[in-house]
Amino acid sequence: MSNIESGFHKRNGVLHIDNISLTNVAKKYATPCYVYSASVIRKQYKALKSALEQALPADKQPLLCYACKANSNIAIIKILKNLGSGLEIVSEGELARGLKAGFSGKQIISTSFGKSDAEIKACLKADILQFNIESPDELYSINTQAKNMGKTANVAFRLNPNISGGGHSKISTGRKDDKFGNTKEDILKLYEIAKEMQHLNPVGVSIHIGSQIVQSDAFKPGFERLADLVKTLRSAGHKVTHLDIGGGFPINYNNEILLNLNEYAKLVRDIILPLDTQIQMEPGRYMVGNAGILLTKVQYIKQTPSKKFAVLDAGMNDLIRPTLYDAYHDISPVIDHNKGKRIYDVVGHICESGDIFNKNHEIATLHKGDLVVIKSVGAYGFSMASNYNSRPLPAEILIDGNKICTIGKAQSIDELMIRENIPDWL
Ligand code: LLP
Repeated sequence: MSNIESGFHKRNGVLHIDNISLTNVAKKYATPCYVYSASVIRKQYKALKSALEQALPADKQPLLCYACKANSNIAIIKILKNLGSGLEIVSEGELARGLKAGFSGKQIISTSFGKSDAEIKACLKADILQFNIESPDELYSINTQAKNMGKTANVAFRLNPNISGGGHSKISTGRKDDKFGNTKEDILKLYEIAKEMQHLNPVGVSIHIGSQIVQSDAFKPGFERLADLVKTLRSAGHKVTHLDIGGGFPINYNNEILLNLNEYAKLVRDIILPLDTQIQMEPGRYMVGNAGILLTKVQYIKQTPSKKFAVLDAGMNDLIRPTLYDAYHDISPVIDHNKGKRIYDVVGHICESGDIFNKNHEIATLHKGDLVVIKSVGAYGFSMASNYNSRPLPAEILIDGNKICTIGKAQSIDELMIRENIPDWL
């Protein structure tokens, strides 16, 4: 293993992941495709784990439940499982993926919003560790299903702390007008109700204020409100044994100064640890975001009177973040031919003006057929891809040292229509 360079780097002018050149990846697999680095995922997990190990005692280490909405490919989930992670799920589909990757129910937390009966049953069947309650009526649904199945479900209540956190309004989740969580007053009532229900076991509270949070200070007021709630619950005679302190850790998109993990871990030590509970966390983006690129080809260069467009063979169907959140993703050529730089609007192949990956982007001069990578797309990239414009889903490729494998096949045109049917009266 000693000759393996890990992660993304240039070798002889060509972008590589570990020991594999992206020109070879494009030759072997069609573009566009997502390409992930297993070593970067491991590095991210270990960095967070080690910050927590330094700040917290061994018997109080948080259970890191990977939020697989960020990237739910079963091979990616399996990498996290092998590292010792737990799993956070938000649907029956994500539960099935977690079980397929080898997680046991006791490593899984459901934070799903609007849990269906089928989903609740599947979670109970798998004996998941905990349901985080979003809406009061979920208590009745879970209790009824648990009674029918002769089980008891652990429930925790998500607090809405009325705090804004995160990189974009659409990914901030803890403000009072957001649909997520419950007020402190409601949680006090709900704890009481849950205690009376025979098939529920109220174990604690949870919080998640948003995503791509770069300042450790932003976590502080939420933690303080959580601590205040725990004290109030305890003084009302309730047991609080589990605290889920959420996710929201940032990654590098545009050379941001990122959250200092040691400062974050100290906040956990100072505010959460003294509450003497099991601690759970739900990081998604942080684990996988910087581990993935979208490998794509310049289909055309188009010059108009006012603009030079680089038209890629990918689009907002493959990666919707720039269109949906005005998210910045850096774009670089796989090989820089050293012919100077130019400014392009780098756009996709979808028939919408909003299908822009990067506007006025300065990049090495591009030509038809050049390979480029769109960076930091390992989280909320493929998992939010669609078939819009009847474009097939791209392949997903995993690189691990000298090894490379398709972990998600590209869809074929036939597969696009496989679930559709023309009624016989037409
Ligand atoms: N826990 C809960 C309850 C969540 O709602 C989320 C994310 C997470 C954990 C994981 O958050 P993370 O550690 O990844 O920040 N599609 C958006 C992000 C939406 C996040 C939704 N909830 C994006 O592309 O930026």
